Amino acid sequence: MKTSPEDLPTWDRDHYWHSFQPMADYEPLVIERAEGSTLYDIDGRGYLDAASSMWCAALGHNHPRINAAITTQLGKLAHCTSLGMGADVAVRLAKRLADLAPGDLRHVFFSSDGSSAIEIAMKQALQYWRQRDEPCPEKTKYLSFGHAYHGDTIGATAVGGIGRYHEVFGPILCETVRVEPPDTRKGAPEDETQAALARLREVFESEADRIAAAIVEPLVQCAAGMLMHPPGFLSGLRKLCDEHGVLLIADEVAVGLGRTGRLFASGHENVTPDFLCLGKHLTAGYLPMAVTLTRPHIYEAFLNRTPDEDRTFWHGHTFSGNALAAAAAMATLDEFEAGLLDGLPERIAHLGERLCELAAHPQVKHARQCGMIAAFDLETDEGFLAENSPGRRLARYALEHGVWLRAKPDLAYVMPPLNVSADDLDRMFDVVAAGLGRTTDEHG
Ligand SMILES: Cc1ncc(COP(=O)(O)O)c(C=O)c1O
Repeated sequence: MKTSPEDLPTWDRDHYWHSFQPMADYEPLVIERAEGSTLYDIDGRGYLDAASSMWCAALGHNHPRINAAITTQLGKLAHCTSLGMGADVAVRLAKRLADLAPGDLRHVFFSSDGSSAIEIAMKQALQYWRQRDEPCPEKTKYLSFGHAYHGDTIGATAVGGIGRYHEVFGPILCETVRVEPPDTRKGAPEDETQAALARLREVFESEADRIAAAIVEPLVQCAAGMLMHPPGFLSGLRKLCDEHGVLLIADEVAVGLGRTGRLFASGHENVTPDFLCLGKHLTAGYLPMAVTLTRPHIYEAFLNRTPDEDRTFWHGHTFSGNALAAAAAMATLDEFEAGLLDGLPERIAHLGERLCELAAHPQVKHARQCGMIAAFDLETDEGFLAENSPGRRLARYALEHGVWLRAKPDLAYVMPPLNVSADDLDRMFDVVAAGLGRTTDEHG
């Protein structure tokens, strides 16, 4: 029995326009607190966070190290602008990221969300081509991959490859060439890699002189439905970009900072992109912060050489380099270095074992894993309405049984906090397995 006069579910339905949500059929789920891998709603019901709160809660919730770091920082400085000054903790973070990042990615531009980090890389790439010693002002297009997702600001939307997210905005988007990525559900990994690289080569041969940058989600296109690229694709892309004078933007907003089992996904193929975008895990999902790292030869094209030159990158966000977020990011990196990364192989193996068991289920197709991401497609019949699809029914079953699972009509995945306990991980998979049995029965 509620004692409060508030009616949060009603207020939620009436006033809160949610992200990526058909609002007409929104069922309020109002969360009040969280602990470890569990979210608790206002009625005290717990839900295991099997999607890490949309891929950002790297360390679960209410983590003592991050809580302490934010609280300590709060007593010193919450925020100062990044215009003409910078918070000490943000300076330390920039140095630390530059030291950790692959190759010579030394220069860090702060923003508040992954979409902005992408937008910044796109703008810096375009401006670089105009300002370098041998300018190429005709390089104004971007190359991206089919089914890609890079965020929802206008630039990031333009390079997206999921029709329902960008088509309606077509008239105001910049020009993008899309190439189909490799898909190991359709062919052998090596064949898919070679075929995708051949498609890329063909595009580069005809229009590299107009392409400022190629943008890729290294290893896993998450929003595409956990589309996992075969080995050799990322390094092949890097090589083609070098051969054809195209900059490479690695969007590691979702896969960076531990998700693939390494600090950086690009590290799996020893690739140094020209721009590296990080977000989500950067503050373990605590506070909004993202970064775009770039290399000296790009940065230097933005330095004025005479007093009357103007090569500045005229871009910035009010909350760039926020001190509280930087403190959360420093604590997250501390946690990685204090053993979290070393413990990952064991958790990744556990995730893999549980996924293997699910793979035997008749409704499960193309079970796949990359680091701490386990995904599988679901057998569907023609004519399922999205709401009654196997994926949606599985997610509803999971919710009823205490697991917050994200699913598409024909796909589900488990992407837990990197420090998930073995028991919580088992419980997530037990519920999914039971849910699969149920949805199959209903189906039959
Ligand atoms: C690969 C990728 N890039 C960019 C973004 C956008 O990040 P944000 O939602 O923080 O703007 C996302 C968000 O899911 C993403 O998955």
